[in-house]
Amino acid sequence: MIPVITIDGPTASGKGTVAARVAQKLGFHYLDSGALYRLCAYKALKEEIDLADEAHLAKTAQALSPVFEGGKIFLDEEDVTDKIRAEAVGVAASKVAALPRVREALLDVQKRSRRLPGLVADGRDMGSVIFPDAPLKVFLTASAQARAQRRFNQLKEKGIVANIDTLTRDLEERDRRDMQRAVSPLAPAKDAKILDSSNLTIEETVGQVLQWYEALAD
Ligand code: DC
Repeated sequence: MIPVITIDGPTASGKGTVAARVAQKLGFHYLDSGALYRLCAYKALKEEIDLADEAHLAKTAQALSPVFEGGKIFLDEEDVTDKIRAEAVGVAASKVAALPRVREALLDVQKRSRRLPGLVADGRDMGSVIFPDAPLKVFLTASAQARAQRRFNQLKEKGIVANIDTLTRDLEERDRRDMQRAVSPLAPAKDAKILDSSNLTIEETVGQVLQWYEALAD
């Protein structure tokens, strides 16, 4: 069986960074499932598709053919690596991700990324829906304040001035939408290990995941 480590959790919990580093340490492939929803949202915004038009959005999701290359993401030959990280795209992504037919359209591409020697997959439903047989499932959390502070620092590094209270409110609103939607809501899989990274560095968090993974072999 091809091993999979799933890392799910709320927005800005650091899952992306942690998952990518765990994948690098183990020499595994890495699936950033949130990027798929972001790509779909980006295309919808660009083509002015109504964010409630489920049939149209599902078709858009089905037809996506992004290229992941050297840490960059290209969509229809456009480098969208930074563009899909914009807050507006994140908000739209959380709306399209609530549509069952969009989620269904993205099932195959996610499952196909399970390739040897192994996969680290990050998202919201990696352990609960996409890879329910994953031998290690992690649910990575952090307080809304810690997450808002991290996002604030990230934005500051890019020269973007943000307001911490607004960021906290936006995070909480997105958490609510991700947790309350009817399909694949954000929730730890029953057999997930909960990891609260509020007071941990990235290295410590990565170290804990690797330790859990190594313990499986014992
Ligand atoms: O992880 P992220 O912030 O890049 O995800 C963007 C949005 O996509 C987020 O609001 C929830 C949604 N998402 C999802 O519903 N299921 C996933 N597996 C990954 C992301």
